Amino acid sequence: MDLGLQGRAAVVTGGSKGLGREIAEELAREGCGIAICARHEEEVERAGKELSAFGVTVYARPADVTDPSQVREFIAESAEALGGIDILVNNAGRAHPGNFETLTDEDWREDLDVKLFSMIRCSREALPHLRARGGGRIVNINAVYGKYPDPRFFATSVDRAACLAFTKTLAAQLGPDNILVNSVNIGFVVTPQWKNVHQRLGPDLTEDEFFGRLAEAEVPLGRFGRPDEVSGIVAFLCSDRASYITGASIDVAGGMGRYL
Ligand SMILES: NC(=O)c1ccc[n+]([C@@H]2O[C@H](COP(=O)([O-])OP(=O)(O)OC[C@H]3O[C@@H](n4cnc5c(N)ncnc54)[C@H](OP(=O)(O)O)[C@@H]3O)[C@@H](O)[C@H]2O)c1
Repeated sequence: MDLGLQGRAAVVTGGSKGLGREIAEELAREGCGIAICARHEEEVERAGKELSAFGVTVYARPADVTDPSQVREFIAESAEALGGIDILVNNAGRAHPGNFETLTDEDWREDLDVKLFSMIRCSREALPHLRARGGGRIVNINAVYGKYPDPRFFATSVDRAACLAFTKTLAAQLGPDNILVNSVNIGFVVTPQWKNVHQRLGPDLTEDEFFGRLAEAEVPLGRFGRPDEVSGIVAFLCSDRASYITGASIDVAGGMGRYL
């Protein structure tokens, strides 16, 4: 299937590792110029060098998506380096475990900032560049917990529901501009953040044992996913083949989530 992505310009936040890194690589393999950011300078620069091996233009710099001025600079510099922006993948984020009684106001603010406000800020800054192209794509990397709340991940459940509403509402507003906005909802995928949890909570178990035990109660496929099982659908949503899909919410979660 020809996705028609050759020569497009894509910005992926949190592109230094995990899902963002895999999505950036998938888009680079399809011929997109790529801009990535993350907070840790050494990691983002290393990822940038590795992505250059695909023979596309790559712009990589440290930037924190919770800092409005860093977002402004990152998006403006990305557009300059890539000659415009066609695609924005809002991926940067992290889990903030905790139930209603353990989460402080500060925890809530931080979680909203890294999840919802990062999407708002990056989308706002990218919008003039997408409009200048006559259309574009925004893909928000979200979580199944937004539709399938779990009190152990209380802030994630509430804030990811807001990210779903943001996606749907932005899709409605930007349809006339031919800017298509979709959400990809992750269940459990093995990435560095989960590898850290494994090292902390179950270092005596193999990865398969540790993640298998966590998955068995919730995931019909009985296992965690791999980042390359997410990146394909993101590339598809960014492509010409997805030209009539906007405001959609697509789970990549091995069947997790007991809802219709
Ligand atoms: N993996 C899962 O099972 C799962 C499930 C549901 C949702 N998600 C969502 O999927 C996205 C990617 O998760 P992942 O599992 O790939 O996480 P990860 O392995 O921890 O990677 C996260 C990436 O985002 C960057 N990042 C984090 N905070 C940032 C900030 N404030 N500003 C800029 N970059 C930032 C990280 O780099 P730095 O640390 O250097 O900034 C890294 O590049 C997140 O939004 C996460 O909430 C993942």
